[in-house]
Amino acid sequence: MRLEQSHRTERFGAVRIHELQRVIQLDSGDATGTVSDGVVSHDAIRAVEREMVIVIPCMNETRRVIEGVLSGIPHDCLVVLVSNSARHPVDRYEIEAQTVEQFCRSAERSAITVHQRDPGLAAAFKAAGMPELIDDDGLVRAGKGEAMLVGMAVAALTGRRYLGYIDADNYVPGAVHEYVKVYAAGLHLAANPYAMVRISWHSKPKLRDGRLFFSRRGRSSEITNAFLNRLVAEYSGFGTEVIATGNAGEHALSLELGLRMRLAGGFAVEPFEYVELFEQFGGVLESAHPEVMASSVPVLQIETRNPHFHDNKGEEHVQGMRMQALNVLYHSPVALPAVRSAILEFMIAQGALAPGEEPPRERIYPPVGSLAMDLFRDALAAEATTFRQLGASALVERPCLNGGPPLGG
Ligand code: GDD
Repeated sequence: MRLEQSHRTERFGAVRIHELQRVIQLDSGDATGTVSDGVVSHDAIRAVEREMVIVIPCMNETRRVIEGVLSGIPHDCLVVLVSNSARHPVDRYEIEAQTVEQFCRSAERSAITVHQRDPGLAAAFKAAGMPELIDDDGLVRAGKGEAMLVGMAVAALTGRRYLGYIDADNYVPGAVHEYVKVYAAGLHLAANPYAMVRISWHSKPKLRDGRLFFSRRGRSSEITNAFLNRLVAEYSGFGTEVIATGNAGEHALSLELGLRMRLAGGFAVEPFEYVELFEQFGGVLESAHPEVMASSVPVLQIETRNPHFHDNKGEEHVQGMRMQALNVLYHSPVALPAVRSAILEFMIAQGALAPGEEPPRERIYPPVGSLAMDLFRDALAAEATTFRQLGASALVERPCLNGGPPLGG
């Protein structure tokens, strides 16, 4: 794969945000280049894929679409499907699990599935020390961020080093394939234990007056990006448009980084990842991780080639997503007063807030790395009846990263 070179970065303390880089070639043949050429060989990509878990959050998506998504995920990645699909009157989780099982059998690979609302999963999180994730019914809370957290915890049990997220409602297997290749290429190029790669899809096709129109930006991301950029600019004193991936649902990161990060619930999860990087590694607040501060945190943003064609869940859904992003920005201790008042003004103008009201707070969970991983694994295996390992078992005895001490222990 050949990516555009990335010369310019914006710093926020130890966080290095790279300007958007385009994919120049999906396949660069035998070209060999250096990191600065943006050329990544097949071997380098595959080496990352062998260490990568792909988590698919899934809620009531159709079987055919899920099958397409699975088919696009490179062979060496381990798939973890975290479902919050309805179980009555039809058990949609059972259908999903069967789909994954058939796929694993025909493709000779392994995968893991689990249902987010399985009481055994909640018991595992309680046992491992994250009661914040449990709701009044004693189950793991619903929400995409919560599903991503579950996926990260399961990924940590596999001993693999990287984690990527792919939505289950993607209609184009080729796009899924490209996203994962880009994750691997970006993580390879970042050459840093604490790296993140975020996708900005090239276009989203929509039907307009009977014609296909390829819209360039998402309806929620423009707003989120503008306010995230404003947050950065208030510190530097220079306007910037560097952040192009505030809402990126498709993104990947090293588990070394992910396990140190708090995650937000629902659709606040992706914008909060930036906020969390700024809070923990921005140099404004004290960092609990001097090793990360010393190493820096590269965030690569890559514009892919395939159109992003997914299920359209309506305007109200998008508005909710937009406001959840602004809620986490507003309440961040690194947001300066000018940003906070601009957010308030915007929300009032949108009718999302009455004058004098404060934006609600989103749920923020402790880092997955704080879980007692051995307790989590044992309780999950013993109590979560929906936890299925298809193909060969992918869990390791003593989860740890890079030969370090066991996680959470
Ligand atoms: N397990 C689980 N639990 N999955 C969920 C939940 C949940 O509570 N809510 C949503 N999902 C799954 C959906 O089934 C889908 O596969 C994926 O998460 C994304 O949810 P959508 O509701 O389809 O979101 P979207 O397509 O409007 O927005 C996506 O793109 C945005 C950026 O454009 C999401 O990835 C957003 O997070 C992202 O910001």
